[in-house]
Amino acid sequence: MDLIGKVAIVTGGAMGIGFAASEALAAQGAAIVIADSKNAAAAAERLRGKGYQATHADTDVSSEDDTRRMAETALQAYGGIDILLNNAGIYSTLTLKPFEELSVAEWRRILEVNVIGQFLCCKSVVPQFKAQRSGRIINISSGVAFKGNPGMLHYVATKGAVVSMTRTLATELGEHGVTVNSVAPGFTLSDGVQHNPELAGTVAEFSVRNRALKRDMMPNDLAGAVCFFAGPHAAFITGQTLVVDGGAYYH
Ligand SMILES: NC(=O)c1ccc[n+]([C@@H]2O[C@H](COP(=O)([O-])OP(=O)(O)OC[C@H]3O[C@@H](n4cnc5c(N)ncnc54)[C@H](O)[C@@H]3O)[C@@H](O)[C@H]2O)c1
Repeated sequence: MDLIGKVAIVTGGAMGIGFAASEALAAQGAAIVIADSKNAAAAAERLRGKGYQATHADTDVSSEDDTRRMAETALQAYGGIDILLNNAGIYSTLTLKPFEELSVAEWRRILEVNVIGQFLCCKSVVPQFKAQRSGRIINISSGVAFKGNPGMLHYVATKGAVVSMTRTLATELGEHGVTVNSVAPGFTLSDGVQHNPELAGTVAEFSVRNRALKRDMMPNDLAGAVCFFAGPHAAFITGQTLVVDGGAYYH
């Protein structure tokens, strides 16, 4: 129960990796704000049903108004913000295709959500973090940023950007007592992925074959890394990216 009295905002927390992380943070004692563009209220209700403290904020992370309201919701509900898990991202709805077939519109939308979304969420909580002189930001990147997976150039570029943003934010925010780290998951059978036959089929099979630990990766496999960066044992760690993928890429 390392996070008793802490408040965590989890973007994209309504399902998949975000929901599993919300549950894990809540189990450590944190009050959770589920910030999602879909089904945020129902997810918060599910957490409360399990006996945890949770509320929700309907949030499209690519909207500055929404992210401002997200931070206000947390402050009004719980009087502070200690942890931001930047998890919302476009991934499980992607169709794999050669890079020449990607449109500029597809590039713009994924940059807006996966990169500018994380920037806006950081911007919305940092005034509170600076006032408290403490805070934890955890950005979800992906192992694809290191491996250069084919068929989703725009997505891979956004996840590389997350690693770089993590480093610069860590440098800018260190003097305010704020740590910024990243978790890079391997291919995970999240809710969204399980609804995408292309990803849940051949990509899942390929991923198990190419990792040291020969089994599917589930959303809960990321819980330990997220809780570690959010908790007291990671107080002097910042700017780092931890790959959690069962041994597919050695970072
Ligand atoms: N599943 C994987 O294999 C995998 C691997 C590496 C990294 N990731 C990353 O992990 C994160 C979560 O992935 P997942 O597989 O759990 O996805 P998912 O599709 O199961 O869930 C994504 C959640 O994010 C929400 N979301 C999407 N766009 C949003 C927006 N603009 N504003 C707010 N919420 C939004 C969705 O509504 C959904 O609840 C993503 O950043 C993804 O890139 C996933």
